[in-house]
Amino acid sequence: MARLPPLAALFFLCLLCACHAAGPSGNPSAVLLPVGKDDATQQYVTGFRQRTPLVPVKAVLNLAGATLWVDCEAGYVSSTYRRVPCDSKPCRLARSAACATSCSGAPSPSCLNDTCGGFPENTVTQVSTGGNIITDVLALPTTFRPAPGPLATAPAFLFTCGTTFLTQGLAAGATGMASLSRARFALPTQLAATFRFSRKFALCLPPGGAAGVVIFGDAPYVFQPGVDLSNSLIYTPLLVNPVSTAGVSTKGDKSDEYFIGVTGIKVNGRAVPLNATLLAIDKKGVGGTKLSTVAPYTVLESSIHRAVTDAFAAETAMIPRAPPVAPFKLCYDGSKVGGTRVGPAVPTIELVLQSEAASWVVFGANSMVATKGGALCLGVVDGGEAPRTSVVIGGHMMEDNLLEFDLEASRLGFSSSLLFRQTTCSNFRLG
Ligand SMILES: *[C@@H]1O[C@H](CO)[C@@H](O)[C@H](O)[C@H]1NC(C)=O
Ligand SMILES: *[C@@H]1O[C@H](CO)[C@@H](O)[C@H](O)[C@H]1NC(C)=O
Repeated sequence: MARLPPLAALFFLCLLCACHAAGPSGNPSAVLLPVGKDDATQQYVTGFRQRTPLVPVKAVLNLAGATLWVDCEAGYVSSTYRRVPCDSKPCRLARSAACATSCSGAPSPSCLNDTCGGFPENTVTQVSTGGNIITDVLALPTTFRPAPGPLATAPAFLFTCGTTFLTQGLAAGATGMASLSRARFALPTQLAATFRFSRKFALCLPPGGAAGVVIFGDAPYVFQPGVDLSNSLIYTPLLVNPVSTAGVSTKGDKSDEYFIGVTGIKVNGRAVPLNATLLAIDKKGVGGTKLSTVAPYTVLESSIHRAVTDAFAAETAMIPRAPPVAPFKLCYDGSKVGGTRVGPAVPTIELVLQSEAASWVVFGANSMVATKGGALCLGVVDGGEAPRTSVVIGGHMMEDNLLEFDLEASRLGFSSSLLFRQTTCSNFRLG
């Protein structure tokens, strides 16, 4: 191609800009994933459309992981899948350490020559395998009122091929895991690059039987009846753990998961004595606090678990106890606990962050778990003496809270319980 003189090149660029701005099929400012909770596994599941022709795919939400992965062995039919070659830029960006050089069978998504390789991980069972990195069409809704509306299409969305075996342990019908991590090709960053919206997403996890949502990009956080949370979140920095927490990693890799700086825990406003060393992330990547959607309940290192449970027991001495129901240690007679708008009437638990003013306040709806036998238990689990991460904030503690993961500003925005504002995740509206 002939070299254009600079002025002509500029003119050409401007034409492109004009077309882009005026195009009727402009990029959406946000896309969404509906979220439900699977009763049997307590996993948060989502659905989207993929391939050509488009088919519905069900996957488990995951705040960890490098990419979306789906089972490419069973029933993957598409005319638009393409391999990501080993020496390509996306393969380098994916920090892939593997290359599938040859496959002698009939070509299929899981049998290709010269294809970039990834390590899809089932973070529920902690099983990893190797698989091809390929692209295909992905379609996500752009409105939510409350049912998902018109679709926006990413023509070449990069993901990793998992196997049928790898889906064991996932919610019934789920054929993969949708990664919301900070990795380059996880959904948030890849969708932002595809649709040119902000590198951020908001997570609103539902309790069982209700509907939640993940909102990628730039959308107001409006819930019925007329509650706009867009300007009322509290923020705390997102921290990067310098050592990978994935099942398969290369030396020097940082973690793709989301850590926050919890500096203390209060029960009923009183500080719980804790070993502060455990709350920091050390040079080996051990310690600290992360968020996980595959942990159904918050998991605390043993000494923290003991201290929080003892403090909670001391503040609730008047409430009749019930025998412990595994995996919980502290349970009450559910019929003797009063109710409030924000769940059972129990002391608050505060996760103190960078300052006293920035506390994530946890009310009964997010701290207590009702068991089938009628007991009401403090929903924290003992994570053992030397876990990799000292505090893992689990799904139950995040339900009906809006959490904004802003990767550009590297901060987490949180709303505390939406029940306080007389709304829930299922009342989110867009468009
Ligand atoms: C890979 O290349 C070999 C050698 O050219 C060829 O025999 C084989 O069919 C190819 N496999 C696929 C899946 O295209
Ligand atoms: C606090 O935790 C660190 C890390 O596990 C440990 O080395 C240290 O001995 C603990 N300190 C106390 C006072 O228990």
